[in-house]
Amino acid sequence: MASGLRSVPSKAIAPPAPPMASIQALNVLAALLEARTGQQIVRHRSTRVDTVLLPLMRERRLDTLDQLVIAILDGSDPSLAGRVVDALVNCETSFFRDPHVFDTIVETIATVEKTGRRARIWSVGCSTGQEPLSIAMAFAERHERIGTPIPEIVATDVSEAALARARAGSYTQFEVQRGLPIRHLVRWFEGRADNEWIVRPELLRHIAFRQMNLVSDPPPGGGFDLVLCRNVMLYFAAEPKQRAFQTLAAAMRPTGGLILGAGETVIGQTDLFRLNPGGRGLYEKIDGDTVPRPA
Ligand SMILES: C[S@@+](CC[C@H](N)C(=O)[O-])C[C@H]1O[C@@H](n2cnc3c(N)ncnc32)[C@H](O)[C@@H]1O
Repeated sequence: MASGLRSVPSKAIAPPAPPMASIQALNVLAALLEARTGQQIVRHRSTRVDTVLLPLMRERRLDTLDQLVIAILDGSDPSLAGRVVDALVNCETSFFRDPHVFDTIVETIATVEKTGRRARIWSVGCSTGQEPLSIAMAFAERHERIGTPIPEIVATDVSEAALARARAGSYTQFEVQRGLPIRHLVRWFEGRADNEWIVRPELLRHIAFRQMNLVSDPPPGGGFDLVLCRNVMLYFAAEPKQRAFQTLAAAMRPTGGLILGAGETVIGQTDLFRLNPGGRGLYEKIDGDTVPRPA
């Protein structure tokens, strides 16, 4: 061991160990998560369950996951199950995640602009808002440059906690450093003394945030030209995934496009969508019309 490391007291760097969970407690939590969101807790993520629930357990003065499960089941605290689900869903996101996707978004919407209609985009599983805000920034700057209309952006998530943060438009220094170009930070955010960055209202107002469960709620109406459902269905069980694809298809206009996450595909998952022949990672509805290719 390096001498520098030997001098650091181990307690100073070791985080408190989360309490061990019984298999029964994990099974109840897994069933709750799947029933509420369609997501499964895969085995390699079960250690994460302890860690992510620790702050909530401390807040409620519960020492073990078994005590937490008992508190959920006895119904004495009606908000507890929702808080547990909020803590368990993976809300990982960042500004301009997979940057090439934003070129595809602009190119696809440009074909709609030519029809003279204002385009509509749905960000599904928008988490804490970085994805719809990145879209809004891309189109607001395009509007300033060439006068094209800013599309209507609807952003939904199952997690009220994530949506509350998205609506507040408040981000830490760490969050804005992940993917947000400095010119966007300067143009669209106001810095605060406590190192939080607040989105300017004139950008935030382009996005309608709504709570919606992709596997059990109807989609927002009106027909979307583009639907982004990135990294939402990764841990969905087979049956909720089928329902989710049906909801996505029902929400899209016949010429609408669907964008999934970098590690996701429709191949072998659903017969409602196929890859758009124009490439760019866009999917289109099989019973729809081909998404127009950019000129
Ligand atoms: C990993 S984040 C992805 C965020 C963003 N789409 C991205 O790619 O950066 C997944 C999001 O999907 C949401 N989610 C999970 N299950 C959902 C469901 N059944 N309905 C709606 N949203 C869901 C989670 O709450 C979380 O915010």
